[in-house]
Amino acid sequence: MDALHNYSRRRAGRAASGRAGGAFCFARRAASVILAGPEPMSAKMPFRLTELVLAAVLAAAALVWVERTTWRQISALRAELNGAETARLLAADASAGERFRAEANAALTRLQRFLFLSLLGLVFGGAGVVVLIYRRLIVPLRSTLSESRAIIERQEKLASLGVFAAGIAHEIRNPLTAIKVRLFTLRNSHKPGTSEHEDLAVIHNEINRLETIVQDFLQFARPAEPELQTLPVGRLLRGTGELLETGLAARGIRLKLELRTDEPVRVDPDKMKQVLINFVQNGADSMPSGGTVTLRSRQQRQVLNERPVNAVVIDIADAGTGMSAEVRSRLFDPFFTTKEQGTGLGLSIAARIVEKHGGIIQYETEPGQGTTFSIVLPPAPPHDAEY
Ligand SMILES: Nc1ncnc2c1ncn2[C@@H]1O[C@H](COP(=O)(O)OP(=O)(O)OP(=O)(O)O)[C@@H](O)[C@H]1O
Ligand SMILES: [Mg+2]
Repeated sequence: MDALHNYSRRRAGRAASGRAGGAFCFARRAASVILAGPEPMSAKMPFRLTELVLAAVLAAAALVWVERTTWRQISALRAELNGAETARLLAADASAGERFRAEANAALTRLQRFLFLSLLGLVFGGAGVVVLIYRRLIVPLRSTLSESRAIIERQEKLASLGVFAAGIAHEIRNPLTAIKVRLFTLRNSHKPGTSEHEDLAVIHNEINRLETIVQDFLQFARPAEPELQTLPVGRLLRGTGELLETGLAARGIRLKLELRTDEPVRVDPDKMKQVLINFVQNGADSMPSGGTVTLRSRQQRQVLNERPVNAVVIDIADAGTGMSAEVRSRLFDPFFTTKEQGTGLGLSIAARIVEKHGGIIQYETEPGQGTTFSIVLPPAPPHDAEY
């Protein structure tokens, strides 16, 4: 499977790869692997102030120790050189004077070596502290910043889309209502069973369908606030499974529930089921000749809203077609679809709903092997026993 993707991180990555090229790109990648490690998600590790303080105290202690030792050695040497014993030896005995000079030289060489090694230690130690600070502080801050930018960008786009959508919906609804009223009178003037009456029934159904589409679109552009309840995650998954099982079985798809945790989550059950249904349907659509979609709950330590938490993760895994780089780059764009009958709103609605729950969406995919989407939700607050 590919590396884990965070959907909001994707945009920042796309902009960066567009600018970089050739050797520069390679150098950047190499530098990021050295500094951030091979798995960029690890940069999401929280930065702890205590670690920085500890590193600074250790570095300062090492510096003090090096200075003190060097100072002592130099002082001792100077005292010996300037002492009466040295003067007497040098005056009285030439060979003893030679020996002393040799010893003094050896001591100075030792001192120089020592100074050189301590300098090396300081340089590498300092570099280590800088890398540590970079990985723990700057990388997470930069990724949080680019994530926030992507979210703001998306929300701005959606806000203007919301105003636009409301206007269009209003304009479409008015003539639709007028058509429906006329249709009602027309239908009454034709006897049931006649071909005219049947045609009018079809037109009536299609108008209803149009109204639903307009309604869905409005819901996407201006979603209502979730009505949060606390419930065990297993209940949510079982409820979704019950809704889907029969329809999926008819398409040769088995829905497998795998409850590794039944921790409570604080969600709007209807909205979260809507999200799960879209993920499961997408998984099923990616396996035209049938197969298994797994709906799994598990717990994992993750960083959400810049805080490490024991997140409740819902995986939706399929063994379908997987997604190409092109599909991945447009996955959460409204109206992006590769399906004839798709609206392309499923994932963008899902992303908005999950965001409103304080969660994130991640995915792993491999063309020809399958895809796993993960909804990462914060755990329900403790003692929140509504269920
Ligand atoms: N599990 C998956 N496997 C392969 N491709 C996927 C998967 N999930 C999503 N996709 C791709 O992402 C696109 C967008 O999905 P999204 O749910 O937003 O819209 P859709 O499924 O095409 O339409 P709708 O949800 O309105 O029926 C899909 O058309 C498909 O190409
Ligand atoms: Mg869909």
